[in-house]
Amino acid sequence: MKITKICCIGAGYVGGPTMAVIAQKCPHIQVTVVDLNEQRIKDWNDPNTDNIPIYEPGLSEIVSEARGRNLFFSTEVEKAIDEAQVIFISVNTPTKTYGKGKGMAADLKYIELCARQIAKVAKQNKIVVEKSTLPVRTAEAIKSILDNTGNGVQFQILSNPEFLAEGTAVTDLLNPDRILIGGDTTPEGEEAINALVDVYANWVSKDKILTTNVWSSELSKLTANAFLAQRISSINAMSELCEKTGADVSEVAKAIGMDSRIGPKFLKASVGFGGSCFQKDILNLVYIAKSYGLNEVADYWEQVIIMNDHQKRRFSNKIVQTLYNTVADKKIAFLGWAFKKDTNDTRESAAIYVADDLINEQAKISVYDPKVSRNKMLSDLDYLETRSDEANSKALSIFDNAYEACKSAHAIAILTEWDEFTTYDWQKIYDSMHKPAFLFDGRNILDAKHLESIGFIYKAIGS
Ligand code: UDX
Ligand code: ADP
Repeated sequence: MKITKICCIGAGYVGGPTMAVIAQKCPHIQVTVVDLNEQRIKDWNDPNTDNIPIYEPGLSEIVSEARGRNLFFSTEVEKAIDEAQVIFISVNTPTKTYGKGKGMAADLKYIELCARQIAKVAKQNKIVVEKSTLPVRTAEAIKSILDNTGNGVQFQILSNPEFLAEGTAVTDLLNPDRILIGGDTTPEGEEAINALVDVYANWVSKDKILTTNVWSSELSKLTANAFLAQRISSINAMSELCEKTGADVSEVAKAIGMDSRIGPKFLKASVGFGGSCFQKDILNLVYIAKSYGLNEVADYWEQVIIMNDHQKRRFSNKIVQTLYNTVADKKIAFLGWAFKKDTNDTRESAAIYVADDLINEQAKISVYDPKVSRNKMLSDLDYLETRSDEANSKALSIFDNAYEACKSAHAIAILTEWDEFTTYDWQKIYDSMHKPAFLFDGRNILDAKHLESIGFIYKAIGS
């Protein structure tokens, strides 16, 4: 089967960039990205591609090239489903906030809605591809809905997890370490797998395209994220020990990373990992393990989350303790709000939790982030429901440059590793602050010696 029409349901951080790259690399395939959110689609269609709703280096150029040629953004979900041979499901799968599995299991209501919609609309055989990270055996549920509600149409369900990291989405998509495609081992399943392999083979070499059964593919995605998150929690656990013993966690990370069995990546101690995937996927894994009665397995992975929560709280506690055990009415400047650099995504960002802790201590927070909007920051805090929206907007002031945010502050906390923070005139910032001036580097990106020579009391994670 030769694919000429693709539809993607969900124009978010996964669907948007992934489809833009497929469209750029496969000009012979018509790619339509649909979403229920009209504003989001309007933003993707903004004539000025600098205004598209997701910031990723290199993305606006790709959208400029492909949009209107073979890349389309639309709210006409049913039409796009009807026309496409392949339908990617890239809708959100947040952790459940109610009922059974609350706080742990993935909420599959958006996925189920998609499946029902596909079943209702489809008149010809289709390949349905799970792109969102999903619990193992979701494909089975999707298949059951499609087969039992559809009108005799044949569906093949593939799992094709996305491994892109935000901030480097475009390069990850253009040069992936691997593409993983899971499908049924029947002849029809294999035909569907091959059709999708051919799409990726337009720019990815075949030896990097791995095919497996559906369950292996689904579980590999959760496992990859769990392993990555576990490395961060492991180095963060060591960071606390380093602070007590006088070792320096960056030196420890370098020393162990030179062991080729361990490798140097993902060993940067930090105020804690954020993002939409790590916590959600591990909670998913924990939930699945528990549901099979594998309590030791569940406890083992849950510890990664416990350590991460501890690291965020430890950072806010350290700020309070160092500032003579009180931050009441003190101004603490936050540099960075996004969960990592080069993205405007703030989901599960450590900054939200650190701000919440410090506001509980009656601190005033002033924030500067190069890409995150004021409304986003406030809604992140409001979402925690710790206090009224009004109290949050009183406690949080937002600036559009770092020098203003830091003026008259008692302390600065680095929450995101944006490159521009390393280029600042730190003497000028120091001169504008209350003395003694404190700097808490939650990302270990600044030069300790230089800052201490200016007069800052400088504290980094793990040293
Ligand atoms: C992750 C996976 O990397 C990606 O493969 C998957 O598809 C989605 O989840 P993402 O969450 O976008 O991607 O970013 P990632 O680069 O993995 O960073 C996650 C968090 O870990 C960030 O908050 C980052 O700052 C933090 N981190 C990362 C560290 O604290 N230390 C490190 O050494 C690396
Ligand atoms: P991710 O990071 O997984 O891409 P996002 O939240 O950024 O998650 O994007 C998911 C998108 O899916 C949202 O824009 C949401 O409006 C959209 N969506 C959810 N359910 C449906 C649906 N049934 N039909 C169309 N779009 C949907």
